[in-house]
Parts: sequence; structure tokens; C-alpha cells
Amino acid sequence: MNLIISNYIRFFVTLFIGLTIIFSCSSTQKAHTFAVDSNKGLKDYYQSYFPIGVAVSPHALNSDESSLIKLNFNSLTPENDMKMEAIHPKEFVYNWKPADAIVAFAQQNNMKVRGHTLVWHNQTPDWIFKDTKTGKQVTKEVLFQRIKEHITQVVSHFKGSVYAWDVVNEVISDDPKEFYRNSKYLEICGEEFIFKAFQWAHETDPNAVLFYNDYNEIDPRKRAKIITLIKKLKAAGVPINAVGLQSHWAVDQPTKEQLENTLNDFSKLGLKLQITELDISVYPKEHQAREERAEDLDTIFSAAIEEKQVEQYRMCFGLFRKYKELITGVTFWNVSDRESWLDNFPVKNRKDYPLLFDKNLAPKKAYWEVAKF
Ligand code: XIL
Repeated sequence: MNLIISNYIRFFVTLFIGLTIIFSCSSTQKAHTFAVDSNKGLKDYYQSYFPIGVAVSPHALNSDESSLIKLNFNSLTPENDMKMEAIHPKEFVYNWKPADAIVAFAQQNNMKVRGHTLVWHNQTPDWIFKDTKTGKQVTKEVLFQRIKEHITQVVSHFKGSVYAWDVVNEVISDDPKEFYRNSKYLEICGEEFIFKAFQWAHETDPNAVLFYNDYNEIDPRKRAKIITLIKKLKAAGVPINAVGLQSHWAVDQPTKEQLENTLNDFSKLGLKLQITELDISVYPKEHQAREERAEDLDTIFSAAIEEKQVEQYRMCFGLFRKYKELITGVTFWNVSDRESWLDNFPVKNRKDYPLLFDKNLAPKKAYWEVAKF
């Protein structure tokens, strides 16, 4: 009798161990097969959701990053080459070549192109604010004329090949006490430049999708101001079609609740949304450039930080998918951890690891969290 019982026990224990091995093998197998499917990239996993974009320089398109870009992305944003200082460095002088190279690469590879950006307080050459002869600050009329000229030239050059424009970038202040950010544009023209920029872009390319783009939209106070601005533009009949959330986030923010509130609040505007500049920094979020501090020298991408980042990417993409009717694109700001603008912002030469590919261009753990759902 005892022998029979012990045989039974042995049988069940063996069966249990056997099944455990089969199940764990098949799940590793599944993850393994998934990981080595070299024909699929992010854009394929998200085919029924939204295009997946990336900000690039022409250099990246000629480097070993090029095949990674082709496999994973179906939308490109020039990281710097359509900004005014790059494309319109002097009055009547336009430098189309770098941006044209990005557009050509996109067309050869069936990718969309987002135009970034027509009016912004940064990376704007000083000449636009100064009288050509006297060097003194120009009048409102002259500045309007110059902004109009800039928008008309740039939008018409890319008409038909750039489907969307960040027309106005970052005009809302981070300071809870003020509405608009202080800038030369605001100082000389007042808020009217925002309204007119959209009109001129629309007149030049009526088919382009026109965006207002800004950052730190997860902060309820700043978000409320952005929403007030959008409502004001809509009420005035300004041709604005969509809102860009830059989404320069970090392992410590946003919380799920914060992000869901953000998407919810914007959804009520009746405009489409895009995540335009996504990255998830491994450092606590700061929005102002500053000097290096002692703690900045410890810049290891530890396993614990990686886990936080994985969790953050999983949460964000879970919500992006949930709001797929609202979101018409998700763009990463830079390709891989080899080089990110966050390596120099807010602190110069502080290495960051904010993207889905590592320094060797291999997919990180977070990549699989985004791809597997
Ligand atoms: C950044 C670029 O990535 C850097 O190469 C450049 O030195 C500064 O600008 N918000 C924007 C982007 O709208 O244009 C900025 O891009 C990042 C913050």
C-alpha cells in the first residue's frame, strides 16, 4: 500500500516538474521568438494604433542607426534642421539641404514627416528682431512681415511632403504667476503673433495639420493655461488642428493618474493629440538648464533605475493605446541612448539613458514592454 502511495506521489511530482519545465520553456520560447523577429519593429506592433516617429539629424540617416530607424519608425521629425536658425539663418537666405535630406529619406522609406517648428523663442536668429541698417529693435509691422515671410517660404517649400507643422512652440509660461512666456516675439507683437502664425501656415498649405506644441503639460497649472490658449484660438476661428505634448518625462513623472488626467483634459478640446518628443529621463525631472552638482557625477544606469524606466514606459504606452482614438502619433526625441539632447540638458555632459535602444543600438528591456502587449 505504502509503495503504491509513494509511486503515486512520485508520479505527480514528476508530472508537476515536467509541466513546469514545458510551460517555462514555452514562455521563454515565446519571448525569445518575439525578441528575434528581425522583420518587425515598433511601427509594426503599433500599426493599428498610430505612427511611431523619431527625431533625427541627416547624419543619423547615413549612420549605422539607419536600418534601426527604417525598421522601427514610420514618421520622422527633423530634430533641428527646420528650426529658424538652421533653415533661415539670415534675411532672404534659406538653407534647405539638411531638411531636404531628411524628407528624401522619409519618402524613400514610406515615412511621414512632421515639421518642427515655425515660431519658437529658442534657436531663432537675432536678425529677425533687428533693423537691417540701424541694428535697433524692429517694429511690430516689420516683425509680422518677417514672420509671415518665414512661414510662407518654409511651409510652401515642404508643401505636400510635410503633413504636419508645430506652428507655435512653447509660448506658455512655466511660472504660475504669468500666462505667456516672455519672448522677443511677445514683447514686440503681443499675443497676436500666435494667431497670425497659424493663419499664415494655413493659407500656405490648407492641407497641413497645424499644431500648438508645448512641454510640462502634465502639470495641471500649465495644462490649464495651454487649454485656455487653445480655446481662445478656436474661439477666434484660428485654424489649429491638434495639440502636441512634447512629453519629456522621467522615471519619477508623470504618475498614471497625472497622465490619464492630462489625456482626458485635452480630449475635451475636440482636437487630435500627438506625443511629439517622448523620452523618459533617468533623473528627477527639471525644466531649467543649470550648472552641474556633485550628485550629477554618479550617472550609472543601474538595474533599479532601469526597472523604474521599464515600468514608466509600460504605463505610458498602456495609456497611449487606451486613447488611440485621440492620439494620432507618438514620436521619440532621438534614436538611442548613444546620443540624446538630455546628455546636455538640463546639465551639460551628464549622460542620460532615456530611450528604448541602448548605446549599441540594441533594444532595451523597456523596448519589449512597449512592443509586447
Ligand atoms: C533640442 C534638440 O534636441 C537639441 O539638439 C538642441 O540643441 C536644442 O533643442 N523642445 C523642443 C525641441 O521643442 O526642439 C528641443 O530640441 C527639445 C525641447
